Amino acid sequence: MTPIRINLTLGLLWLLLGMLLGEHMGRSGDHGQMPTHAHIMLLGGVLSIVWAMIYKVFNVQIGLLAWVQTGLHQLASLVMIVALYFLYGQLADPAVTGPILGIAAIGVIVSLLLVIVQTLRTKL
Ligand code: HEM
Ligand code: HEM
Repeated sequence: MTPIRINLTLGLLWLLLGMLLGEHMGRSGDHGQMPTHAHIMLLGGVLSIVWAMIYKVFNVQIGLLAWVQTGLHQLASLVMIVALYFLYGQLADPAVTGPILGIAAIGVIVSLLLVIVQTLRTKL
């Protein structure tokens, strides 16, 4: 297992999950989970696959930063998506989900910063 494989595989699985939720939204006519669907598709799915492609295409050296970035992106995406599901499904008090979303957002941003650092260190 490498960060490339993990990001690619989990990204594709996020797409599958997001499409199943989108399909459920379409069938039920209840689009209340649209922000959850959008973030599963784009934050979980598309961005994970973009990270895998950046690592692969630009031959970024896979070291500690790549592992930390991958773990952080997947963990923060998971926390954010579950919290969004609870928030938009009105399954939890927004006073509880709010701070969780805030912390997850910081995780997503730090993960992006780690990609920026690694690409800047990569000779193109
Ligand atoms: C099986 C495939 C899919 C289904 C059934 C589906 C279903 C839906 C539905 C029902 C909505 C709500 C539309 C509305 O209320 O205006 C929606 C919105 C959205 N979908 Fe999907 N979707 C699918 C695939 C995708 C894919 C592949 C992406 C991106 C990679 C995507 C990204 C989005 C985004 C960003 C929104 C929010 C749009 C907005 O802000 O107006 N969806 N989708
Ligand atoms: C730090 C991470 C992020 C935070 C805090 C964040 C926050 C938000 C918020 C507050 C909304 C409005 C939700 C609403 O309609 O009530 C939103 C919508 C949206 N975000 Fe994000 N977002 C993040 C990451 C991303 C990323 C990485 C993407 C795409 C690659 C993205 C794509 C979208 C899209 C397409 C919508 C519109 C979806 C809709 O209308 O439901 N977001 N985001």
